[in-house]
Amino acid sequence: MSEEHVDPEACRPPPASDEPVYRIHVFCCTNARPPTHWRGSCGGKGSRELCDYMCRLAMALGLGRIRINHAGCMNVCSHGPVLVIYPEAAWYRFENENDVAEILRSHIIGGRRVERLVLSIDPDTIHG
Ligand code: FES
Repeated sequence: MSEEHVDPEACRPPPASDEPVYRIHVFCCTNARPPTHWRGSCGGKGSRELCDYMCRLAMALGLGRIRINHAGCMNVCSHGPVLVIYPEAAWYRFENENDVAEILRSHIIGGRRVERLVLSIDPDTIHG
């Protein structure tokens, strides 16, 4: 197709909207390091499978405008597996499917933090 046939409207970005694409965005660290690495890793503790489980559960519950993403290292490896939920920037540590399901049902659906899994981070402990 020559340039003169390109529809300029097709090249424009969609109109801006005040409405966010996702109402809630979850980032699960699924970074994996070798098991002997001194920092450890969330992926080495099963976070990838647990993140996928959370996705499947969210889909099974028909939750819309929620995105659950795999993410790289979030620099709090010794606390992992970890995830963070936006827009609140709420950090959680999780270990198993029950933890992930509780975060989904209580925090994401019910709007109530899961206190037993909240990760409070001392900025001085974050690896630079
Ligand atoms: S490997 Fe998950 S926070 Fe670093």
